[in-house]
Amino acid sequence: MFENIKILTQTFGPSGREGKISDTIRGLMEGHVDEILSDAMGNLICVKKGSGKKIMLAAHMDEIGVIVTYIDEKGFLRFGNIGGLPPFIILGQRVRFESGVTGVIWYEEDIDNIKNVNLGKMYIDIGAVSREEAEKLVRVGDMAVFTADTIKQDGKIISKALDDRIGCAILIELAKQNPDTDNEIYYVFTTQEEVGLRGARTAAFGILPDMALAVDVCDTGDTPRCKPMAVKLGEGPAIKIKDRSVIAHPHIKDRLIELAEGNGIPYQLEIMKDGGTDAGSIHITAGGIPSGGVSIPTRYIHGTAEMVDMNDVENSVKLLKKFVESKF
Ligand code: CO
Ligand code: ZN
Repeated sequence: MFENIKILTQTFGPSGREGKISDTIRGLMEGHVDEILSDAMGNLICVKKGSGKKIMLAAHMDEIGVIVTYIDEKGFLRFGNIGGLPPFIILGQRVRFESGVTGVIWYEEDIDNIKNVNLGKMYIDIGAVSREEAEKLVRVGDMAVFTADTIKQDGKIISKALDDRIGCAILIELAKQNPDTDNEIYYVFTTQEEVGLRGARTAAFGILPDMALAVDVCDTGDTPRCKPMAVKLGEGPAIKIKDRSVIAHPHIKDRLIELAEGNGIPYQLEIMKDGGTDAGSIHITAGGIPSGGVSIPTRYIHGTAEMVDMNDVENSVKLLKKFVESKF
């Protein structure tokens, strides 16, 4: 599974530019489902046919990034954010455009206080000496993503873009394990989650599933002096109770808890104060779709070095398998 995680986290795909990552996932899903389609929003919808309930599993394939807004006469690029970017984390980082062009994020010399650090005072340096030269490499509107390698160390994975390529890896692994069920399973790799849960909305409307789960990352409360939160790295998948975008349907939440307890799968309960998931737009689609979530506890979300525990990843696959195999 680590090989897939590596491939998925290292493939380019900021919100709205998911072409490459979609092709990569399609390649990994082929042969494990009956049908693969994509819709106008770019969602990749992989269907395992069945006569039972329609279950939608959503993992977003877009990642955070930056977008070029202006190129100055000296060839420096001004930029905006694609998704939530903590300003002090991106200082000094490398970004890579789809073409492979790489730049360094730096800041105007007059920042005298960390509180004044904002994207408006930063620029991307691609080494060009003039606007003309820069424009040969990038154009206004081009997007770039952060670069950082993907490693496994003592059962933990450290990488960029684990939000939410780890969810994508989990859905792919689940499809490979071919759940034994009559339920119709929709493995949906959604677009534009980081800019407002947008792809999941049209995917859910197109499918009209009987129920849905978002498979995404959630914060932990186990690092020095962090905000209190009852989720720790390595203590099991987090069953969503609530985040900023959704209150999990009680039947979905209770079923997940029952299945975890009945099958000896460790689990935790997630209430995430900040941040939403695809379940946020799915559950209010059409006449309403009972939705919940299985989350992978993740440290340093939206940093360039996020961290997950492989045990949580494997137990998430187990829990999701039991869920899609159950009778509703
Ligand atoms: Co995110
Ligand atoms: Zn996410």
